[in-house]
Amino acid sequence: MKVGKMGGRLISLMGCAVLLCLWSAAVAEGAAYLKYKDPKQPISARIKDLMSRMTLEEKIGQMTQIERKLASSDIMKKYFVGSVLSGGGSVPAPMASAETWINMVNEFQKGSLSTRLGIPMIYGIDAVHGHNNVYNATIFPHNVGLGVTRDPQLLKRIGAATALEVRATGIPYTFAPCIAVCRDPRWGRCYESYSEDHRIVQAMTEIIPGLQGDAPAGTPKGVPFVAGKTKVAACAKHFVGDGGTVKGIDENNTVIDYKGLLSIHMPAYFDAVRKGVATVMVSYSSWNGKRMHANHDLVTGFLKDKLKFRGFVISDWQGIDRITDPPHSNYVYSVQAGVLAGIDMVMLPENFTEFIDDLTSLVKKNVIPMSRIDDAVKRILRVKFTMGLFENPLADLSLVNQLGSQEHRELAREAVRKSLVLLKNGIDNQPLLPLPKKSPKILVAGSHANNLGYQCGGWTIEWQGHGGNDLTVGTTILTAIKNTVDPSTQVIYNENPDANFVKSNSFSHAIVVVGETPYAEGAGDSLNLTIPEPGPSTIKNVCGSVKCVVVIISGRPVVVEPYLSSISALVAAWLPGTEGQGVADVLFGDYGFTGKLARTWFKSVDQLPMNVGDPHYDPLFPFGFGLTTKPKKGN
Ligand SMILES: *[C@@H]1O[C@H](CO)[C@@H](O)[C@H](O)[C@H]1NC(C)=O
Ligand SMILES: *[C@@H]1O[C@H](CO)[C@@H](O)[C@H](O)[C@H]1NC(C)=O
Ligand SMILES: *[C@@H]1O[C@H](CO)[C@@H](O)[C@H](O)[C@H]1NC(C)=O
Ligand SMILES: *[C@@H]1O[C@H](CO)[C@@H](O)[C@H](O)[C@H]1NC(C)=O
Repeated sequence: MKVGKMGGRLISLMGCAVLLCLWSAAVAEGAAYLKYKDPKQPISARIKDLMSRMTLEEKIGQMTQIERKLASSDIMKKYFVGSVLSGGGSVPAPMASAETWINMVNEFQKGSLSTRLGIPMIYGIDAVHGHNNVYNATIFPHNVGLGVTRDPQLLKRIGAATALEVRATGIPYTFAPCIAVCRDPRWGRCYESYSEDHRIVQAMTEIIPGLQGDAPAGTPKGVPFVAGKTKVAACAKHFVGDGGTVKGIDENNTVIDYKGLLSIHMPAYFDAVRKGVATVMVSYSSWNGKRMHANHDLVTGFLKDKLKFRGFVISDWQGIDRITDPPHSNYVYSVQAGVLAGIDMVMLPENFTEFIDDLTSLVKKNVIPMSRIDDAVKRILRVKFTMGLFENPLADLSLVNQLGSQEHRELAREAVRKSLVLLKNGIDNQPLLPLPKKSPKILVAGSHANNLGYQCGGWTIEWQGHGGNDLTVGTTILTAIKNTVDPSTQVIYNENPDANFVKSNSFSHAIVVVGETPYAEGAGDSLNLTIPEPGPSTIKNVCGSVKCVVVIISGRPVVVEPYLSSISALVAAWLPGTEGQGVADVLFGDYGFTGKLARTWFKSVDQLPMNVGDPHYDPLFPFGFGLTTKPKKGN
């Protein structure tokens, strides 16, 4: 029975005396009316009502996000934990099904729902190129490839597909998109960045309404919006200047004046906040020597006060620990500095009771004012109410078929096609691409031709990613080539042939697929940006003897100038993900090449950093470069 609705009618009929009758009706029904649980109440009233009932312990619980390995129904209940996350590669079981994921998330949720106030927890995961921790999910190209597409509507569709796959596993929150503006490809996270140009990064924030849904017209700027059970809360990261560190060193120092910070690294936050992004993650990096996790002026003064962001601010993994050098050397100070800077939810992969104890005592000693705690909790509850988590806290199996669906794989394949950049096509005005589907015999070579893990890169199944074809479900480039050529074409695969092998066979042409091996974050920092062996030897052995197309699989531009003259055609494929068919679609002319570089391709690493617009700009291939081909009908 809808007490509120009937009550309204009675009140208008009989006046205030009826309130008593209403109250006894509710009691007779055995459920006292709780305003915060009433979805018909405005969110602000629900927040106010709930906060008035919460103890300090319950409030600090909301600010606590723990890793799934530490979580259980009992822990959720005992500490009033507000959020749980999966770190990179943290899964309930290897190759876990959607149902296994749902059961795990629901189990934690039941613990939260059994607390006195029954505030649901929010489960978060890094779904940064599709739902990449999950077996059989669609893996989309990493952002470095998506920037090439210049296609915001494609990004929106990818966001919507990713939201469905994340929800398929019972999860309502992703730590994406990364809106870093990578200014130096030596950075190990450069592939998580759409472009060195902030305008492309801004345009690509269209993934946010894809993930969260479109905020209705009239939604005030900065108010988070997430449209229900098929959408997820997003997270713009890493605030701010993560892509501007010295020499691209991960988590290091971004040296730039305020004007530069605002004009290069900040613009995409204006777009993300305007589009109703639910959360923002703080960067490990420093700005002019000051750790962002302790930067009150930017986190509170700029993001919350100036941009009017009203979702919640989350720390990075052990982000507050790293405020001090060495990390965790003065944890009480870290908690104080991080929370006072304006961080609302703290990501705690290890000792969360230490955080709870330290924060509690800092509040009791008035070092951290209660108003700061209330601001944090209000923001977290606002996101939870907005997305309907109180009404729908438990996931069911209704979306499990969305995971890795054919429709999503077709979308990823389209994204792969549009992300390829043709850097060279033929020698002496003789274009090599598109390749004919019908040839007597072709060679496919290279470490990355038949390696699903390599083509997906880092943040795939495991944090660092890994090589091989059994990590998840997908199509390698070799398989895609075999699927595409005429049945009469003989495809010879030899991963690393010697020159004699190539010479002694009469190949019409060769496709060589080489590149970087998977990495994530600081493990990917590189000062040389070379293609590791045997990539260069394979190029030399093959391209020295037969016309060859070289396809580079990499998270960023790499050193190619020394090989360029021996290569007939060169394609940058970035980290395309599971749908390798998109590469063959374009190589063999079912579709044309359309991609334009969203990064500058340098000649040598000593030019770095070098970005479009720089005074001494002298690239191998400039920003915006990309040859085109026309689709070849009846090939
Ligand atoms: C930057 O990296 C250098 C070299 O590893 C290190 O000494 C320094 O502390 C780092 N600075 C910051 C702000 O992280
Ligand atoms: C967590 O930190 C507390 C100090 O607040 C310490 O007593 C406890 O042993 C730590 N637990 C673990 C598992 O490290
Ligand atoms: C992957 O997902 C698709 C679509 O839900 C399903 O048809 C297929 O059986 C799954 N494959 C594996 C190996 O789990
Ligand atoms: C290039 O740098 C990477 C990462 O630091 C290193 O592992 C590799 O050995 C270097 N390669 C060369 C040829 O120096």
